[in-house]
Amino acid sequence: MTIAKLLQSATAANHLSDSSELDCELLLCFVLGVDPSYLKTWPERQVSDDHREQFDGLLQRRVGGEPVAYLIGSQGFWSLDLEVSPATLIPRPETELLVEVALELSLPEQASVLDLGTGTGAIALALAAERSYWKVCAVDLQQQAVDLAERNRQRYQLNNVTLFASDWFAAIPTQHFDLIVSNPPYIEANDPHLSQGDVRFEPASALVSGDDGLDDLRLVCSQSVDYLADGGWLVLEHGFDQGAAVRELLDRAGFVLVETRQDLNGCERITLGRHPL
Ligand SMILES: C[S@@+](CC[C@H](N)C(=O)[O-])C[C@H]1O[C@@H](n2cnc3c(N)ncnc32)[C@H](O)[C@@H]1O
Repeated sequence: MTIAKLLQSATAANHLSDSSELDCELLLCFVLGVDPSYLKTWPERQVSDDHREQFDGLLQRRVGGEPVAYLIGSQGFWSLDLEVSPATLIPRPETELLVEVALELSLPEQASVLDLGTGTGAIALALAAERSYWKVCAVDLQQQAVDLAERNRQRYQLNNVTLFASDWFAAIPTQHFDLIVSNPPYIEANDPHLSQGDVRFEPASALVSGDDGLDDLRLVCSQSVDYLADGGWLVLEHGFDQGAAVRELLDRAGFVLVETRQDLNGCERITLGRHPL
């Protein structure tokens, strides 16, 4: 069967997601070891029986709900192609806004930066790739996530990043960072979305934060004050309906210039504040 026919029949026969066609293309690219442009350039090429069998196997797992990123083991984020694993969250496009906001801040040329709950290393590695003079420290509670982020760091030779395991600030030596960033877990424990779609396959440790989803944001907001230099910034990702709550947490912790930015869907997504000078 040709590439074009295989894709056509796979897309028609399976409702995988709202982006079934793209899902099928990504899975076939993975099996064939090619870029998406190959599928468009060579639609008449034959797919071998072996490759077709592998493709069908992945397709069935996708029908069962497994995220494409876990099936192919990687996900694009910012300028990077990151290895992913079920140890942590698959990086989301919304989180690129956090990177954008952090890069817009006026910071020392050799800024010291802390990424709390780094997961795949997405935020830390994107910032380190853009600012080679920054010194970025990144931590996660899960050792498997730290190991994964370390592999991603090595792949891009980002020698300005240090990764280690820590329960939030517990293992971080007392010092004053110019910037702290975090995309912590922020979903309510009984949110019905946790039993739907791709998130069913992601670990609760990366998603859930107490009854109101704010346990980790509360802790990060209150403790960051002790780890920020005067004039340093805290930039946080949160749920679309948590902007007001996070602004209040930052106000109460003594931050100034507190504001929230909206993502491309018009949802409040990133809130930042400055440690007073
Ligand atoms: C929403 S995920 C974000 C991952 C990554 N920063 C990103 O944006 O794709 C939250 C991360 O926080 C980590 N985490 C949860 N509790 C933590 C804790 N007590 N201390 C440090 N990291 C924690 C999880 O393991 C997970 O990797």
